Amino acid sequence: MAFSWKLHSHGLFVSVCGFNTGGWSVWGNWAECSSECGGGVQTRTRTCQSPPEEAYQCEGALEEGRPCNSQSCTGKGRLGTRSQSLRSVDSRKREDSDKTRSGQQSSQTVDPPSGEEWSAWSVCSATCGEGWQTRTRLCVSVSYSTQCSGPLREQRPCNNTAVCPVHGAWDEWSPWSLCSSTCGRGYRDRTRSCKPPQFGGNPCDGPEKQTKFCNIAVCPVDGVWNEWSIWSSCSSSCSNGTMKRTRECNGPSYGGLECQGEWRQTRDCFLRECPVDGQWQLWSTWAGCTKTCGGGSQQRQRVCHGPFFGGEQCPGDREEVKRCNEKRCPEPHEICDEENFSNVVWKKTPSGDTAAVRCPPNAVGLILRRCSLDDDGIAYWENPTYMKCVSNDYRSIQTLTRDHLSKAQRGLVGDGVSEVMTKLRVTSSDGTSYSGDLLAIIDVLKNMTEIFRKPYYSPSNTDMRNFVQSVSNLLMEENRDRWEEAQLLGPNVKELFRLVEDFVDVISLRMKDFQDTYEVTDNLVLSIHKRPVAGNADITFPMKGWRGMVDWARNSEDRVRVAKNILVTGNPDEDDASAFVAGIVLYRNLGSILSLQRNSTVLNSKMISVTIKPTPNTLSTPLEIEFSHLFNVSQPAL
Ligand SMILES: *[C@@H]1O[C@H](CO)[C@@H](O)[C@H](O)[C@H]1NC(C)=O
Ligand SMILES: *[C@@H]1O[C@H](CO)[C@@H](O)[C@H](O)[C@H]1NC(C)=O
Ligand SMILES: *[C@@H]1O[C@H](CO)[C@@H](O)[C@H](O)[C@H]1NC(C)=O
Ligand SMILES: *[C@@H]1O[C@H](CO)[C@@H](O)[C@H](O)[C@H]1NC(C)=O
Ligand SMILES: *[C@@H]1O[C@H](CO)[C@@H](O)[C@H](O)[C@H]1NC(C)=O
Ligand SMILES: *[C@@H]1O[C@H](CO)[C@@H](O)[C@H](O)[C@H]1NC(C)=O
Repeated sequence: MAFSWKLHSHGLFVSVCGFNTGGWSVWGNWAECSSECGGGVQTRTRTCQSPPEEAYQCEGALEEGRPCNSQSCTGKGRLGTRSQSLRSVDSRKREDSDKTRSGQQSSQTVDPPSGEEWSAWSVCSATCGEGWQTRTRLCVSVSYSTQCSGPLREQRPCNNTAVCPVHGAWDEWSPWSLCSSTCGRGYRDRTRSCKPPQFGGNPCDGPEKQTKFCNIAVCPVDGVWNEWSIWSSCSSSCSNGTMKRTRECNGPSYGGLECQGEWRQTRDCFLRECPVDGQWQLWSTWAGCTKTCGGGSQQRQRVCHGPFFGGEQCPGDREEVKRCNEKRCPEPHEICDEENFSNVVWKKTPSGDTAAVRCPPNAVGLILRRCSLDDDGIAYWENPTYMKCVSNDYRSIQTLTRDHLSKAQRGLVGDGVSEVMTKLRVTSSDGTSYSGDLLAIIDVLKNMTEIFRKPYYSPSNTDMRNFVQSVSNLLMEENRDRWEEAQLLGPNVKELFRLVEDFVDVISLRMKDFQDTYEVTDNLVLSIHKRPVAGNADITFPMKGWRGMVDWARNSEDRVRVAKNILVTGNPDEDDASAFVAGIVLYRNLGSILSLQRNSTVLNSKMISVTIKPTPNTLSTPLEIEFSHLFNVSQPAL
């Protein structure tokens, strides 16, 4: 047996398939006979198994009967009452139809021997369209003949002329629509259509359209500026200030746009001028003393600038007075009288003062002359000094040197330095006119040494020769008078020694180890021997037999020995490659120049200069210097 299922919108309807798919069922069993003897009737029924719409398959008899137990009864009475009940099962229906049948009864009684006549057809089961109607009959024959066999109840389709009303019917709902809005509150709907009612049927019941809300995402909200704040107070209580105001952005939310535009505004404001305190200008120079001696006074002033806009006054005094020239006024014998001397007029000058006149036309500067007191307290003129006079030739070399030095200090290459050196050598070989010229030459050479020290200027051999020759020229016998004068005002010879030492220092610093430099002039021998300190051995400078040695130095057997413990620099384990000993200078005629110094006898000979780099902290062991021809002396390094 197989089953198939069919789905309908109104519900589940099951149709059973098999050998009996509809139409009449098979007849049921015959019921018990209505009588045990003497002839009875028995009945059987069948049912319609078709669904109502296929009921046409079931037209005909619903119940039928047949005679039974026809054998005669022996001694038994007939059961007359029983025959009364042999009738259709559906007796109620017969009662109903009796009333409508009464008119037809006369025609039905025409044929009594057969089974009783049929009742009239019942009213149609449906008030419209197709339906069913049935009729029944009884078998009440006295004889219980076989005529009682046959259908007892029948049915047949009936058809009303009135058409059945068709109710309106909804179609399927359409699918839900898309949400009406991509953000915020939207809705979606669906509709269905009605198959319209017919023949007076009911209209479709229920809504044609359904709506429901939908919310895909929250809508973005752009930022909106709040009102500007009020302007702030001016940032500065005086002079230029600013005021500002701000505003805030309300939002954005859910991905909306930021507020556009500035959130802060400033504008200038100016409440009033700031008070400016008065400020003193510089003091004027002191005015001249009211007296030249015996106590006078002098004053100076200053000016207050301001105050402005209510500022403070300058504090303090605007005028200052001080005493001056308090020294006792000289007696007449303490004053040098005016004097004509070497073509110059020297004005009357009190003792202790120095008179000054212009240098001769070939030089610039001043000639100085001091008025002093002798042992008896009488004023007298000292000799005039020309230390502040520089000949025009040397003045121009000084000017050139000053230019080169300032360039060198600004890192510019020293083009033309060699020319200056040459000019200096040539000019100085012609001697000097004034003691100021000597000092000018030393000044130039000193500054040249500074230029040579600059890493980007390499002094050439010519530079070195010019340098040594210029020093030699300084020491010429012809300059003796000028030296004499120069030493009156200071240790100028020591300046010369210092200058040559610096020169040796610079040259040796820039020399390679074991390189030798050797310059011989009329007045000095300069020999630079760079000896690295290695192995801490003593270093000696024997000077005998130098090549090209000038006469005055040729026989020298002078010797310098630098003891090794002097050479120990810092940590003795360290092989300090930067430590070295360099330089020897022999001066020829220092004696005649230095004899003017009060303490010069010891130096009335050659000078020897030794440079040790780096400079030892203390000199525990003296340098040993041997002068072969005059006397031997041990002394600390000069
Ligand atoms: C009933 O009447 C309708 C319309 O007149 C017709 O289509 C239908 O076949 C009839 N049915 C029967 C069983 O006569
Ligand atoms: C104030 O502002 C004015 C105009 O911008 C300017 O000329 C002046 O120099 C300012 N004064 C000071 C004290 O900054
Ligand atoms: C110095 O010489 C000038 C002229 O050159 C002369 O007028 C003056 O009187 C002289 N003075 C003395 C003190 O001789
Ligand atoms: C030498 O140098 C000193 C110091 O820098 C400077 O005052 C002086 O004018 C210079 N002299 C010359 C001639 O360059
Ligand atoms: C010479 O120098 C020595 C030592 O430096 C000193 O003691 C002496 O007084 C000096 N003599 C003169 C005349 O200046
Ligand atoms: C100096 O000393 C050395 C050795 O000590 C000696 O040979 C020489 O004669 C001395 N010189 C003089 C001038 O005394």
